[in-house]
Amino acid sequence: MIHNSDRVVVRGLKDVAAAETRISYVDYSGALYYLGYNIDDLVGRVIYAEVAYLLIHKRLPNQQELDSFQNALVSAMKLPEPIIESIMRTPKHCHPMDILRTEVSHLGEYDPNGTDFSDAANMRRATLLIAQVPVIVATIHGSRFNQIVPEPKAELGFAQNFLYMFKGTDPDEKETAVLHRYMTLHIDHGFNASTFAARVTASTNSDMYSAVTSAIGALKGPLHGGASEKVMEMLDDINLEEEVEEYIHGLLADQKKIMGFGHRIYKSQDPRTKHLRGMVEDLCHRDRTLKLYNKCIKIEEIVYARKKIYPNVDFYAAVTMDALGVPKEYFTPFFAASRIAGWVAHIIEQYEDAILLRPESKYVGQFNRSFVPIENR
Ligand code: ACO
Repeated sequence: MIHNSDRVVVRGLKDVAAAETRISYVDYSGALYYLGYNIDDLVGRVIYAEVAYLLIHKRLPNQQELDSFQNALVSAMKLPEPIIESIMRTPKHCHPMDILRTEVSHLGEYDPNGTDFSDAANMRRATLLIAQVPVIVATIHGSRFNQIVPEPKAELGFAQNFLYMFKGTDPDEKETAVLHRYMTLHIDHGFNASTFAARVTASTNSDMYSAVTSAIGALKGPLHGGASEKVMEMLDDINLEEEVEEYIHGLLADQKKIMGFGHRIYKSQDPRTKHLRGMVEDLCHRDRTLKLYNKCIKIEEIVYARKKIYPNVDFYAAVTMDALGVPKEYFTPFFAASRIAGWVAHIIEQYEDAILLRPESKYVGQFNRSFVPIENR
């Protein structure tokens, strides 16, 4: 046992490895691997369901396995009636992330085998959550217009169905390709704050819904997944490309952080940025996207020149989502609907590790204070 005064506090847990993982590796020099595959070899060559399968089964599926996994996901894209009713009843001013957090927790009440913690039950639950988180997101969006989301279509794949249920129209080929890339790039990222939160909850042998609820709460914060919505607020705030310089210099002069920039691990470019930037560039035939893209490029140049920091995944993700027609308050919910596969894979890995995550703290408060009864205070 280490004595309190000898304890070393690693502020923000920087550089601390909290457990071993086989799921993903974030290389500070600017690379990201899922189960050993470099994302640069996957993006554009795989569909989202294929990577979700990779994360939970620890290997890539063959065509037949992928087809049956997608079928299982698509047929699970249906919410229990009380969840739909609850979403329809939420006040219209509620942020979608608040509703998503509540309804994932609520979903736990309708698990038919809620007390079964076997590996098979957890795998079934993982598939269910991968399928149902996107449907909750689509249902929240529909509910704002008093609309019930359409049933999934058997002829569409899983990710396509997500966009179809969210927007109510069939995604075209380009939108589908963008969505697979976006979701693949967001599926996992080592021990980020939300994944760690999920693993802490899972480490107490709590259930998967509780662990995912913890993760959603952590993802929502603007220092994590909430940053992309803030990026769009910033882009909307800058009226013209010519105003970018003054705007960014102003923020930096006020010691404000530029949303969508900087990263705890990467010391060079975030390997996901080039894919997202390329996707946005491809969508620049749309006038709005071109204007946003031009602002982004300028912001990137100025922030690098001033701070030597690079954009993270959230920066170009904002314009990617905008080009897909997703309103900004749904950027983080789309992130959650992609990251869910990573979260459940990590929760299962944490169950296998079977150790309680419980760090120490260094007490810096007072000792031996004399107690004063309430009537004398
Ligand atoms: N804008 C301006 N300066 C920044 C930024 C930024 N976005 N990010 C880091 N810096 C500067 C800090 O001011 C600090 O400078 P200093 O050493 O001169 O004081 C230095 O870079 C280190 O920054 P920290 O905040 O100490 O780095 P940390 O690893 O703790 O934080 C974080 C990482 C939270 C991502 C930070 O970069 C940030 O707040 N970024 C903006 C929010 C954001 O985009 N979050 C999404 C992250 S990716 C994701 O979660 C999906």
